[in-house]
Amino acid sequence: MKKILKIMIGVAPLLISCGNNVKQLGNTDINKIVDAMTMEEKLHIVIGDQLEVNTDGSAVIGTSEKIVPGAAGNTYDIKRLGITSAVLADGPAGLRIDSTRKNDIRTYYCTHFPIGTLLASTWNVPLVEEVGRCIGDEAKEYGVDVLLAPAINIQRNPLCGRNFEYYSEDPILAGKIGAAYIRGVQSNGIGTSLKHFAVNNQETNRQNVDVRISQRALREIYLKGFEIAVKEAHPWTIMSSYNYINGIYASQNYGLLTTLLRKEWGFKGMVMTDWYGGKDAVEQMNAGNDLLMPGRKEQYNQLKNALANGTLKKNGLDKNVKRILQVVEKTPRFKNYHYSNNPDLRAHAAVTRQSATEGMILFKNNGALPFANNIRNVALLGCTSYKFIPGGTGSGNVNRAYTVSLLDGLRNAGMNTDATLQHAYENYITDANLHAKKPTGPFSRFLSKPLPKEMIISDSEMDYLAKTQDVAIITLGRISGEFVDRKESDFLLSKEEKELITKTSEAFHKLGKKVIVLLNIGGVIETSSWKAIPDAILCAWQGGQEGGNSVADIITGKVCPSGKLTMTFPINYEDDASSANFPKDASMIDFNINGKNDRNTTIKNIDYTNYDEDIYVGYRYFDSFNKHVSYPFGYGLSYTKFDYSNAHVILKGSLITVAVDIKNTGKTSGKEVIELYAVAPNQVKLNKPAKELKTFIKTKELKPNETVTVKLTFNKKELASYDDVASSWRVDAGNYKLLIGSSSQDIRQIVNIDVKKSFVKCSDVLKTQFILNKLKRHS
Ligand code: BGC
Repeated sequence: MKKILKIMIGVAPLLISCGNNVKQLGNTDINKIVDAMTMEEKLHIVIGDQLEVNTDGSAVIGTSEKIVPGAAGNTYDIKRLGITSAVLADGPAGLRIDSTRKNDIRTYYCTHFPIGTLLASTWNVPLVEEVGRCIGDEAKEYGVDVLLAPAINIQRNPLCGRNFEYYSEDPILAGKIGAAYIRGVQSNGIGTSLKHFAVNNQETNRQNVDVRISQRALREIYLKGFEIAVKEAHPWTIMSSYNYINGIYASQNYGLLTTLLRKEWGFKGMVMTDWYGGKDAVEQMNAGNDLLMPGRKEQYNQLKNALANGTLKKNGLDKNVKRILQVVEKTPRFKNYHYSNNPDLRAHAAVTRQSATEGMILFKNNGALPFANNIRNVALLGCTSYKFIPGGTGSGNVNRAYTVSLLDGLRNAGMNTDATLQHAYENYITDANLHAKKPTGPFSRFLSKPLPKEMIISDSEMDYLAKTQDVAIITLGRISGEFVDRKESDFLLSKEEKELITKTSEAFHKLGKKVIVLLNIGGVIETSSWKAIPDAILCAWQGGQEGGNSVADIITGKVCPSGKLTMTFPINYEDDASSANFPKDASMIDFNINGKNDRNTTIKNIDYTNYDEDIYVGYRYFDSFNKHVSYPFGYGLSYTKFDYSNAHVILKGSLITVAVDIKNTGKTSGKEVIELYAVAPNQVKLNKPAKELKTFIKTKELKPNETVTVKLTFNKKELASYDDVASSWRVDAGNYKLLIGSSSQDIRQIVNIDVKKSFVKCSDVLKTQFILNKLKRHS
């Protein structure tokens, strides 16, 4: 009955207001609506109205009908006051809802856009905004009110299972890309949930791990991106993360959710928990975590008792309720929007295809790319060429209609591939999948089967391919996702993968033919030991459902590559400063996925993780400590070349602008990403990294010989570092160098500015009680 009612009236709450005396949300002051609510109604609305998980954690059953099947949850509705539900569904690589429904013959597919890492690798703010607009449109047209995205946690360590959803090791880049995504989605009149707030950088024991970290590293690295996205794009909601921060759960942390987020940053929206996050519902409410998702029965009783014994104050609860109502009031469902269930998937496929090409990164090119006109026959090697990976697993997966493989993409571009090789691979993959061990245990439904080992190709088979084909492409694939971190073996190439590269290169090079390695990956892998062997390497990331077409666009030269790395590719895994404090190769038995720790002992990197590397994350570490890397932050080649000249500074109030001329000096049209790094004077009080990204810009497509003047602007206060002792952002006086580069290690122009000192006092929150062995550049 409730279902029928919801179908009839769920989208038209205002029409059923019975009588004129009953207060209705939307036509009555919101405070009066809060006053008109019973205590039971208030307690219901702060708890999500959706799910209960079976005790073994294996299946999800609805306690109320799902309004949009496959959505992650919804808020509680109160019809007598005209309060509708708000439907919340995942991102970030597209909308995650079920593609089929019971007793319904039609499908509800969504577009699988590129993974977050690829989007950020475009460094193209308007393009990310456009992708956000399309994802938001799909959400709105499928009846969703708030998209649970973007996810902007820092890629602290190469092995984090969810790095594919995240943007960068750099907070400015993550914040700016995140803000663009939010603006795009919210331009449709639906909300976003900026997640996971904060410092959720490992999947191992994510619901229990205590992140022990300095206030400085928090402010400068892990919170900075959130601050930018909150201030620039005003997300409707924020999702608190699972982990503890310095001993207090993020979702129960008043310092984080109220003092910092609301009072200091001015956030006006609503905060919700991550699904089943935190332990104490009362502390969550008191901390400023307004909504508990997806909602558990016992939370109701906990809150009720707390109201009775005074640990939860009525006016505090009223604030939580009001913030939820303020979101509900803005939703399409509340505004009676008649969604079509028919977004323009064809138009969005074109957008995802184009956006994916822009984030793919050319690592190496000895004249192998783009294909010359006489290249027609491609030896397509590597299992993943035939089963392209569009994105990661877990809540970031998207139920799409199709995935274009590299095989399909090349064929669509008019290339030929060897049919016998194709059949051999297809049979091999089917067989390997048949025998692959299916993941078991809690949340295994979200985990994918391991990828097959690479197929062994005999010497004579390889010679045959080298003779008959014009070029070879080898795709290396990796799949990762929510719930588990990657292992070091996933970072390294397998014996079979290395052998495939060597053998193919030997056979093809003997006949003067080229070999290209394509990386269909969601996170960093080892490249240093083998990168000298092939002629070209293209990091294609995971480009969504049109991935194969996007790669073909680059390979054939239809599009000039212009993506750049948003994180460092180290030589060895251990080279990364965070590796000493990361759960490398932890197994599921080391922790309890249901959020309970029954062990008597605490295990380093499982129960707590010390962020000893402090502010030295990614290139901030490698560049400051002169460590060699395989590919540096900000790196990426093009089919053309760009000349930088005439850099000069323009000062206006607190804004610093560097104008620089960029000329395309090659023979192909292309776009260039220009990166601005600041270098502090030597005599400043605090330890400073060798350089820090302050801003960036991407040019439009420049024709050969075309010059454009770009302007890179940032605020002087962005030169500040956070002084834990004084609880202040502090800019030291002196002469700062501004480096204008094509990557963090390819600096083309340098200008200088004199800066006066300044301080901004902040609240002294999120203090650590632990002694950290903090890495320092100068003692
Ligand atoms: C994830 C969130 C997601 C939520 C709802 C959680 O497991 O951490 O990112 O939004 O589930 O699906």
